[in-house]
Amino acid sequence: MEKQTPDNSRRDFIKTGLFAAGSFFIVPRHVLGKGFKAPSDKLNLASIGAGGKGFGDISNAWNNGAENVVALCDVDTNQAARAIKKFPNAKVFSDFRVMFEQMKGDIDAVTISTPDHVHGIAAMTAMQAGKHVYVQKPLTHNIYETRQLTEAARKYKLVTQMGNQGASNPGQQQMIEWFNKGLIGTVDTVYVWTNRPVWPQGIPVPTGKPELPPSMSKENWDLFIGPADYVDYHPLYHPFKWRGWWNFGTGALGDMGCHLIDPPFRVLELGYPTEVECSVGQVFTKDWQPEFIPEGCPPSSHVQLKFPASKKNKKEIKMIWSDGGIRPFHPDLIPADESIGEEGSANGVMMIGSKGIMTCGTYGLVPKVYLNKGGKLEMPKDYKTKNKNETLPEYGHQTSWVEAIKDGFGNSKHKALTSSFDYSGPLTETVLMGNLAIRSYGLRTAAGNGFKYDGRKKLLWDGTNMKITNFDDANQFVNRNYREGWKLI
Ligand SMILES: NC(=O)c1ccc[n+]([C@@H]2O[C@H](COP(=O)([O-])OP(=O)(O)OC[C@H]3O[C@@H](n4cnc5c(N)ncnc54)[C@H](O)[C@@H]3O)[C@@H](O)[C@H]2O)c1
Repeated sequence: MEKQTPDNSRRDFIKTGLFAAGSFFIVPRHVLGKGFKAPSDKLNLASIGAGGKGFGDISNAWNNGAENVVALCDVDTNQAARAIKKFPNAKVFSDFRVMFEQMKGDIDAVTISTPDHVHGIAAMTAMQAGKHVYVQKPLTHNIYETRQLTEAARKYKLVTQMGNQGASNPGQQQMIEWFNKGLIGTVDTVYVWTNRPVWPQGIPVPTGKPELPPSMSKENWDLFIGPADYVDYHPLYHPFKWRGWWNFGTGALGDMGCHLIDPPFRVLELGYPTEVECSVGQVFTKDWQPEFIPEGCPPSSHVQLKFPASKKNKKEIKMIWSDGGIRPFHPDLIPADESIGEEGSANGVMMIGSKGIMTCGTYGLVPKVYLNKGGKLEMPKDYKTKNKNETLPEYGHQTSWVEAIKDGFGNSKHKALTSSFDYSGPLTETVLMGNLAIRSYGLRTAAGNGFKYDGRKKLLWDGTNMKITNFDDANQFVNRNYREGWKLI
């Protein structure tokens, strides 16, 4: 699908105020009084996936009425009920393709907060219609889709932001400043860990055919499936639990990777990894015979990604990810009774450098440095942040995106965004590399009385060309087959 006739008139106006003089429906600002915002100064926002996290995303972008919410798209009226009540003037849709068709010129920007398998196709449809997008993390379901969105943002000159709100947390700015001062020296190892999955995962594929909830028609279940392989409705998929199934979700890495890998990726200015290796937890319901559930993400995994030296860090880096509750061991430099990162948190980040260790919790919270020569640094309470929206919900991550749209593509507020696709694209590809390895680890062929697992090895990655160079079967996970009727581009 090529970009259709873009309706840029409203957007251009928002950006430049071109119609301000001589346009009959504009009332001069001085007539309206100080502080009054003419309706035409406001962005017209739409939400795709208005329940769950989507409610917060569209509410934060709306910013207590600073913008308009003109359309809500969701496949389940029960999930979307809170948003429908909060934005009674918004038109309600269940198919985002119909929404863009019917409201072509009436939407400026869209928040996308569906399950992961719909992010790519919904965002591409929006961008091809000329809409700015805020897309939840991980940016997409697979590496290929992420690359396409990253390129589309530049091609169509759209202002984008991924929903890893910790990117706007001043804690990350503090970490960059500490690293740039050389406090921890050169980093060679990074640990990142999470307690996810915290939903059913590593379990057998659900059977039976439960009734659809009354809030969801058969047609809307079909829309939920979107580009994925068709399966019957089951409460183990929708809502929320889709996370544990490769058809829809991206497992523990997809859920927390974009939050937790973000600080080291940003601080060390990493690019595409060059190698990935993993092992995954097994489940036994019979002696000696592990369950084999290729449809489901594993109950735990341990992944190592290798990055070449970067401009900022003159040494190769190993990044070690663990999930399912497996954590790294306490380094000697951190007092035994002290939590690593955020007190009591089951998620964290630790960067081991030649002169010290830097740690933080989720979203870059409570950053700290432990120096080899002795001493510890914490973020001062009166830390001076560049983020003017710091006190807004989610550090103003959505508001900054809205302001950048109004400022215009390529202008200073756009450049200051902390997770536009130029940054969050490569970050997401890195996160999804881990999933590629995990899925490859499960590939097996019959051999004798058992199986041969050819993908259980170190995989070499050519990031520019999106290709595993030493095990071709793994390349099937770079992209996915789309269900008939659904196409990315
Ligand atoms: N940044 C964060 O802190 C954070 C937190 C939670 C979730 N998320 C992300 O938000 C996204 C949604 O997660 P969730 O927990 O809200 O899931 P959820 O299942 O609770 O909600 C998803 C919503 O999307 C709707 N939906 C599903 N398919 C749709 C389609 N094709 N078109 C329109 N609407 C559709 C559902 O009906 C539901 O209202 C995920 O990508 C997740 O990773 C981010």
